[in-house]
Amino acid sequence: DWTDQSIIEDQVARIRAQVGDKKLICGLSGGVDSAVAAALVHRAVGDQLTCVFVDHGLLREGERKQVEEDFVASTGVRLVTVDAVDTFLGELDGVTDPEAKRKIIGREFIRSFEQTAADLVAESREGAGGDIEFLVQGTLYPDVVESGGGAGTANIKSHHNVGGLPEDLQFQLVEPLRELFKDEVRAIGRALGLPEIIVGRQPFPGPGLGIRIVGAVSAERLAILRRADAIAREELTKAGLDDEIWQCPVVLLADVRSVGVQGDGRTYGHPIVLRPVSSEDAMTADWTRVPFDVLAQISNRITNEVDEVNRVVLDVTSKPPGTIEWE
Ligand code: XMP
Repeated sequence: DWTDQSIIEDQVARIRAQVGDKKLICGLSGGVDSAVAAALVHRAVGDQLTCVFVDHGLLREGERKQVEEDFVASTGVRLVTVDAVDTFLGELDGVTDPEAKRKIIGREFIRSFEQTAADLVAESREGAGGDIEFLVQGTLYPDVVESGGGAGTANIKSHHNVGGLPEDLQFQLVEPLRELFKDEVRAIGRALGLPEIIVGRQPFPGPGLGIRIVGAVSAERLAILRRADAIAREELTKAGLDDEIWQCPVVLLADVRSVGVQGDGRTYGHPIVLRPVSSEDAMTADWTRVPFDVLAQISNRITNEVDEVNRVVLDVTSKPPGTIEWE
């Protein structure tokens, strides 16, 4: 509608004024925010933009494919995929503190972008347009507030793209969504022609599954969580709950074990937590009253299909006092 169009026009003008004829890169996370930020910048400056998708190994099932196929098909942007699984998992090895994990992931994102920018500049050897000086980020207003960027607010979590940035950052930031809330961002994404599969997606944090493993992150633990998450998402969608649920983090309590029994055997496995929440803007949230039979189906499937998990629990905490993500 008129408001969306005027926000788009206003941002397009501001982006052009900020970057001139310089080149930019934009990190895509697979989420709504970075996709809309990229589409907006692409509208403003076209092929001055290259998008970068960092596969850090903390992605959910199918996410890489969605970016590489659906996003590129709908926007026509130039995309570079960086395989950084070993680097991220190496840096995260043994780290259990949530803020430490967030800072490492934020820092490694930036390193991947810097490396990609350097490679791109080297590729176009004649250097037309020179260095890449700008980094586009899909930072929203709530990210700014909750990372302590707003006046008089406490630092609750270092969002990977706000509080987690290194001090010697060699890019200037372009953040066209910094004053907007999620529903506004979705509306703008639709007005820019992005498909529903991208704008209708549930929010997923940039640090990915790395902050949904309580305990140290490892490839084995990620594989467990990825399977449990895919089952929960599939069943919630099948039950028609995608509109009612804002998002449903699935969390692996990797350092907790409990005794179970399967067949004739004793098991000593990990619990999975389901955290379905309903919300308007993620600043506050309530736990979603998912029907018991849907919960039962998810629990049965996860405990049957994911060997290392022998217990599924439901988080019934609103925000506040709980945050949506566990870390
Ligand atoms: P919390 O856990 O603070 O989450 O209640 C609020 C919303 O923000 C998402 N979230 C993030 N999104 N980078 C992001 O892009 C991050 O570092 C990050 N941390 C949390 C979370 O999924 C929820 O939608």
